[in-house]
Amino acid sequence: MEHHDACQPNACSLTKVPVTQANLTRHVLVCTGSACRQNQSEATLEAFWKVLKERGLLYGKRGSLEGSILVSTSGSIGLCAVGPAVMVYPEGIWYYGVQPEDVEQIVDEHLIGDQPVERLLAYTFK
Ligand code: FES
Repeated sequence: MEHHDACQPNACSLTKVPVTQANLTRHVLVCTGSACRQNQSEATLEAFWKVLKERGLLYGKRGSLEGSILVSTSGSIGLCAVGPAVMVYPEGIWYYGVQPEDVEQIVDEHLIGDQPVERLLAYTFK
């Protein structure tokens, strides 16, 4: 693999990148593509940050390095007409129409309780 000037092998050492040392159990992505944003997906994103932080589960600078759930944004995945879309990995579960008031249920039942929230399921990876 080639390294450009700003990324020599030493500077790119994975041990210097905290996320590679994290004990992550899940990655939650909230779509902030234009259609989902029009359906207030940023409020949904903020609700995930808030609820996961309250539960001590949020990884990263909004939470802590001890957190086990990484939340990030994504571009469109094609659920534009029924957004906001939320994806949970490694399960590969996509939720649709996720409003801020749905977030506590997803966190408690799915991310903590391992039971996906059926009423919001749009797609499950085969
Ligand atoms: S904009 Fe979010 S799924 Fe298309």
